[in-house]
Formats: sequence, structure tokens, C-alpha cells
Amino acid sequence: MTEEFIKFENVSFRYENAEDEPELPLALKNINLTVNKGELVAVLGHNGSGKSTLAKLTNAILVPESGKVSVMGMDTANEDLKYEIRRKVGMVFQNPDNQIVATIVEDDVAFGPENLGVEPDEIRIRVDESLKAVEMYEMRQAEPHNLSGGQKQRVAIAGILAMQTDGIVFDEPTAMLDPRGRQAVMDTILKINKEQGKTVMFITHFMDEAVLADRVIVVNNGEIMTDGTPQEVFSDIGRLKKVGLDVPQARELQYRLKENGIDLNGNILFEDECVKAIKELFQKKVL
Ligand SMILES: Nc1ncnc2c1ncn2[C@@H]1O[C@H](COP(=O)(O)OP(=O)(O)OP(=O)(O)O)[C@@H](O)[C@H]1O
Ligand SMILES: [Mg+2]
Repeated sequence: MTEEFIKFENVSFRYENAEDEPELPLALKNINLTVNKGELVAVLGHNGSGKSTLAKLTNAILVPESGKVSVMGMDTANEDLKYEIRRKVGMVFQNPDNQIVATIVEDDVAFGPENLGVEPDEIRIRVDESLKAVEMYEMRQAEPHNLSGGQKQRVAIAGILAMQTDGIVFDEPTAMLDPRGRQAVMDTILKINKEQGKTVMFITHFMDEAVLADRVIVVNNGEIMTDGTPQEVFSDIGRLKKVGLDVPQARELQYRLKENGIDLNGNILFEDECVKAIKELFQKKVL
């Protein structure tokens, strides 16, 4: 059964203008969006399209100018519910350095549950479990400044896991990482969704990450342009390119081959599918 987790109803948002400056345009316009429990949703969009604003509206860091955002039925504009909402939706940002507060890994992970008033024995259990989940348990005594970007980001994720929220919103969690760090963080995100059943929304500009989601939302100029499965969203390459987005590499290759008269079957999103389709053409002696 589907259960609504985060719901946007006719949401518009505008940042405050500086004194003596004119009013800023709407950063988000009339957004309607429901994220159901257990979903894995990727959010795409070019720079300044409104992705981070959308993310911050999900757990009351920002509240709408008009319309309503609710988390499990709780209105984010209700000041009294703010902390309850943040116990439901955690957030991980791009730069791990800005999210790590302690000088020892396990102390950092304990920080969130400590603030929630969790009992010390329970904190110990949560810290160990969370560090194991992100594969950083062996490094629990390390100093964060000695870790790689990907390791730091996984510690930041463990900190949110230790708060045991039902959902986590990631704002470009892999943007500052090298390919290995990106892979490890993406694996962690998938595991959190698939194994722990948490609802996950992640913003990315890497199309090869977006294809891993159940659902892809494209934000353009403050509006939701497309919302569908990766297959659906990446079928219309021209439309994505028009708003400054790439497509997954395998899809791009399929597209270029087609322009050159070589037709691969289906709507290819993954490298292995692409290899298989090309191999078939060779076997049929088409190539
Ligand atoms: N604190 C702020 N004050 C004023 N305007 C802002 C503020 N933060 C963002 N904006 C503006 O709001 C719009 C949406 O910004 P947002 O950060 O949500 O975009 P984004 O899609 O996350 O971009 P990026 O890919 O660069 O992270 C942009 O026009 C941006 O300039
Ligand atoms: Mg952003």
C-alpha cells in the first residue's frame, strides 16, 4: 500500500530580498509533488533551477510563501511541529566538512541523537549500527580531518542514520567527491533505501546516478518539468538537452549511433545493456 510521506501542494517560494532591493522572483512556482514511503527519488535540474530550495522545504529549513508542504501529514509551516518533522526527514548536504562537528568520528555520529535526548546506552547502539551501515565502523576512532571526502560524507550520513529518521534528503551528496568516493556514497544511499526501507530523495547532476532511482524528477526554472521512471524521463533526450541536462552515457551513445544509422533496441540506460545490444548487432553481422 502506498503511504504519503512528503507532500507539496501548490507550493511557491521566494527568497527575501535585501533591504532597498526589489523583490526576488519566485524560486519555486506552484509545485505539486507527493513522495511516498519507501521511494527512491532523484532530482535533476540545471544550476539555479530550484533543487536545493525544494530540498530545504521538505524539512522546514524553509517554509512556503504560499501552498503547503507536509511530512506524514504534519504542516512544515507549523513552528510547533518543526522538531517532530526533523525527526522524520534528515538532510545531508554537498560538503561533508560543513556537516562534521566533532573531532572523533564516533562523537560526530553521536551528536544528532544526543541533541534528540536519546539515552546514552541507546546512543552507543545507534552509533555502532550507523557506522557499520556506512562501512566506517573500523574507523570510529579516527579524526575526520584524516578521512577522504567520501569517508567524511559517509560519516555525515551515519550521523543522520543515528537519528533514525524515516526519510533522508541528499543535496548533491557526491558533488565534491572523486569517482571512488562517489561510488561508495551512492552504494550507501541505495542500501539505505533498499535494505533499511527509508524514503530517499537525492539531488544529483550525475545522470548515471539518477538512473538508479525508482523515479526521476526534473526541475526547470522553479517548476517540475518531468516526473517519471528513469525510462520515461530519459526517453526524450531532446527535451532534456534543451534545459541544459545531460543524459546517461549509455543513452547518449545509443542516440549518437542512431544518428549514424545504427539502431539499438529499446531505451538503453545502463552500460551493460548497451554492451549487450551492440554485441547482438555484431552477432547478427549488422556491424
Ligand atoms: N539565500 C538565497 N537568497 C536569494 N536567492 C537565492 C538564495 N538561494 C538560492 N537563491 C536563488 O533561488 C534560485 C534557486 O536556487 P537553488 O539553490 O534552489 O537552485 P539549485 O537548483 O539548487 O542550483 P545548484 O545546481 O546551483 O545547486 C536561484 O535563482 C538562486 O539564485
Ligand atoms: Mg543546489
